[in-house]
Amino acid sequence: MLSIKNIIDIADLSVDDIGLILENADTFDEVLERDLKKVPALRGKTILNLFFESSTRTRISFELAAKRLNADIINFTSSSSSMKKGESIIDTIKTIQSMIVDLLVIRHSDSGVMDFISRNTGLPIINAGDGKHQHPTQALLDLYTIKKALGDFKGLEVAIVGDILNSRVARSDILLFKKMGMNITLVSSSMLLPENLDYFDVRVCSKIDDIIETADVLYMLRMQFERQDRKYYPSINEYNRFLGLDLKRMQSMKEGSLVMHPGPVNRGIEISEAVMNSEDLPKGKIKINEQVRNGVATRMALIYLVLTTG
Ligand code: NCD
Repeated sequence: MLSIKNIIDIADLSVDDIGLILENADTFDEVLERDLKKVPALRGKTILNLFFESSTRTRISFELAAKRLNADIINFTSSSSSMKKGESIIDTIKTIQSMIVDLLVIRHSDSGVMDFISRNTGLPIINAGDGKHQHPTQALLDLYTIKKALGDFKGLEVAIVGDILNSRVARSDILLFKKMGMNITLVSSSMLLPENLDYFDVRVCSKIDDIIETADVLYMLRMQFERQDRKYYPSINEYNRFLGLDLKRMQSMKEGSLVMHPGPVNRGIEISEAVMNSEDLPKGKIKINEQVRNGVATRMALIYLVLTTG
């Protein structure tokens, strides 16, 4: 059983919780290999996907995970809802409660909303991304992807590259990867780094070339243009020169090292078209599609564990 009722913040998870999640992800990953990709584990349970921010892959991933567990899942997105008609969040919550559901999966631009909804409904919550704060299910599927590819975590060198400032994925990955004994280096320009860097207690450098030969995992972040209130980088050329991944740089990566990205990729910015289009890449292995695939098994594990923890 998990030691917590909600998956809101990576900081709340113990190493035992994380082990349990990975173990269950493995079990469900096997289910996804079968002809009949379904188990009756959560028959009769109802999950509400509450998305107040746009999303395609995360929402679909949760939907598929719920269906593979035989749970019912309903989608609520703010653009098609009464939120646009001026309904307050508390009224939305009351409406939800009247529907009698068992679990809420929430994406919202405001970090405080998860706790607020949790307190007001008493329902368990899985955070599917809150503003610039956290994206715990992404971090857990990233961890599971690393486990499947490299086996162990202790002492791995992980470089997280790009727009750290605006990235909830980076915040969750840093916390989780450090918890599991990995060494983190943030690779970015000072404009794309948060001010409170001491809090993370990680190494920092400014060029991808500083770490390209030593990283076991190169985690490329998306430039979050929609969250940037001003211009954070002089030009795309400049970004490519210091922070972009191209074929030449991939050539100097360690044998068996991994390239990851939470998606969607801005082709030609953080990763070049040539790298994205190559079938047979030198050395470093692109794990982006594998991350999406592992997202379903990891979310099945999370939904299952949260609903059976009680
Ligand atoms: C991430 C997100 O929304 O934070 N994407 C995702 O969940 N697939 C990362 C991003 O948008 O850059």
